[in-house]
Amino acid sequence: MKAAPGTVLIPEDQIRRRIAEIGKQISIDYSGRAVTFVGILKGCFVFLADVIREVSPAIPIEVDFMSVSSYGDATTTSGTVHIEKDLGIPIDGKDVIIVEDIVDTGITLLHVYNILSGRGARSLRVAALLEKPGNSKYDRPLDYVGFRIPHKFVFGFGLDYSQRFRNLSEIRVLDEV
Ligand code: IMP
Ligand code: MG
Repeated sequence: MKAAPGTVLIPEDQIRRRIAEIGKQISIDYSGRAVTFVGILKGCFVFLADVIREVSPAIPIEVDFMSVSSYGDATTTSGTVHIEKDLGIPIDGKDVIIVEDIVDTGITLLHVYNILSGRGARSLRVAALLEKPGNSKYDRPLDYVGFRIPHKFVFGFGLDYSQRFRNLSEIRVLDEV
């Protein structure tokens, strides 16, 4: 079998450790409250699955997903976002954490944030596994960030490279071309 392309940027054990820290922090920050996690499909699903299992069982949680597209198959971001799948639960009055795989231009996140804040969430925070800092249109600081990475195309751990390699346990980066 052919190995995955590119090189390892963040190995599996580092990702696991960081996600455990984020889960503990969320458990502290939301102690005595309930949390609704809203994952932005598809890339979030691995991160979200791991992070919720690091959140204290004393905290009641809900999980739902939205599907938004801004990327297509290319490795650059277009400026438009389409909602392909909406939430199945109401979020008014709830404490919501939006879960993203990666924030690059922040266009996806900004749209989702505005939509959810318009629906009357009591509080809205953002957890992202990865951030490519510096060119985000979402101008608030991210509340929970796994890793800040260089402006290169990455994949693995839920993130795809032309719909492939979401199953990798590490984050890889394409080789310089
Ligand atoms: P943004 O709107 O530019 O912040 O990014 C939106 C989405 O593009 C992310 O949620 C990812 O699904 C995807 N994306 C951005 N950068 C990368 C990357 O380096 N690899 C894979 N997907 C990416
Ligand atoms: Mg995404």
